[in-house]
Amino acid sequence: MKNDLSFSADKLQPLMSDDFVFGVATSAYQIEGASRAGGRTDSVWDTFCRLNGSIAKSATGEAACDSYFRWRDDLELLVELGVGAYRFSISWSRILPDVSGALNQEGLDYYIGLADALRRRGIRPMVTLHHWDLPQYLQDKGGWQNRETAYGFADYAQAVAIGLGSSVDFYTTINEPWCIVSLGHRSGVHAPGLRDEEAANAVTHHLLLAHGLAIQALRDHAPRAQLGIVLNGGPSLPLSDSEADIDAAGLFESEQIHRYASPILRGEYPDEFVPPVGRYVQRGDLEIISEPCDYLGWNYYTRNVVRRGDNGSPEIVAADDYPQTDMGWEIYPDGLRQVCSVLQRNYDLPPLYVTENGAAFQDTLADNVVHDPERIRYIQQHLDVIADMIASGVDIRGYICWTLLDNFEWAEGYSKRFGLVHVDFDTQVRTMKDSGKAFAELNATKARLAAGCNERRTDAAR
Ligand code: FCB
Repeated sequence: MKNDLSFSADKLQPLMSDDFVFGVATSAYQIEGASRAGGRTDSVWDTFCRLNGSIAKSATGEAACDSYFRWRDDLELLVELGVGAYRFSISWSRILPDVSGALNQEGLDYYIGLADALRRRGIRPMVTLHHWDLPQYLQDKGGWQNRETAYGFADYAQAVAIGLGSSVDFYTTINEPWCIVSLGHRSGVHAPGLRDEEAANAVTHHLLLAHGLAIQALRDHAPRAQLGIVLNGGPSLPLSDSEADIDAAGLFESEQIHRYASPILRGEYPDEFVPPVGRYVQRGDLEIISEPCDYLGWNYYTRNVVRRGDNGSPEIVAADDYPQTDMGWEIYPDGLRQVCSVLQRNYDLPPLYVTENGAAFQDTLADNVVHDPERIRYIQQHLDVIADMIASGVDIRGYICWTLLDNFEWAEGYSKRFGLVHVDFDTQVRTMKDSGKAFAELNATKARLAAGCNERRTDAAR
């Protein structure tokens, strides 16, 4: 297997354009640790991790990658990777640690310092306001089931925008509402661990309302930033040609994609969600939710193979027609093209960013190196698809790889390694994997070409 990321000239060209950015992503709870430092209070994930049996090997994010304290080292890794953007999230309970709503300046200063340092190194900060770590004190009042949480989110967005303002190029309101709804409130495998269909309906609407209200607050206080939301999902394919499976796949697509994309991009819930979710809608909500976004972030990992389950609902089948990652997710790069064409067919889209894509494998560290050709191949295959999509006219402006560091992978704890950089969780030593080196080489090529273009432009202007 090859050990670099290389492209034919026609594929290289769109990826090397000035309008296309390469980056890496992380999220607060997955890397920061320092769960009690600097005035931070518990999030729902701190609480969930304490529940017996919720996380593999009873892991918690208490220490994670200790990035709250080691962020300067991690910044050097970003510089070594040569990325143009860093997507990270803010821990809400560091900024507003209790129910009084009083600002914790120390928490805000941490992110202001990080964003400023990134800019000084030429890396564009992409800030996610909510990557699943809802403050526990809000969960105690009903969490996302409570409409008030949406207004609280707008206050939090405003506090962040006033603090970080124009030092941030991109704000994302919410990461993957589908996961919060389906994994957090329906199957209960993520915090807050509920299995309650009615809760899932209320949470859907309140998350989307929170998104719209936050876009309004961000527009007022960070007018130069690009604003958007990050949704996720793959194409849904029926397990068989039976009508039952075809219907189930259609329903699942609607559940994962249109339940969120349609209110945001069209200002209406799809018909099938009007009775269950619609009862939480108040007058004016859908106008707020469909407040225009500057971009749409899409996280893509795999496809969904769907059958009609015994209870009549769509059921995801663990298909293995293609090689899988350590998560048991099929490697299916063309699914990215397929899901984007679903979006294009149904909506008038703003520019797209692939805000997460990456793979977990069982890496081994030996003699200070990690050979991870499968991860390089995964990234290569997805970038090939993206290059073709851009060439065929899809407006994709960036590829943000998941993730900078091996980190706390939610219910899987530390057992799944997605990083371009290996982390030894006993010592916190970081080691660039071969995939990180390959990504750095690609970014170096991009920088060289950009410098060459600038030189030519300057010569032409003389
Ligand atoms: C996404 C999450 C991200 C990470 C990857 C593997 O759904 O946004 O935090 O866990 O999956």
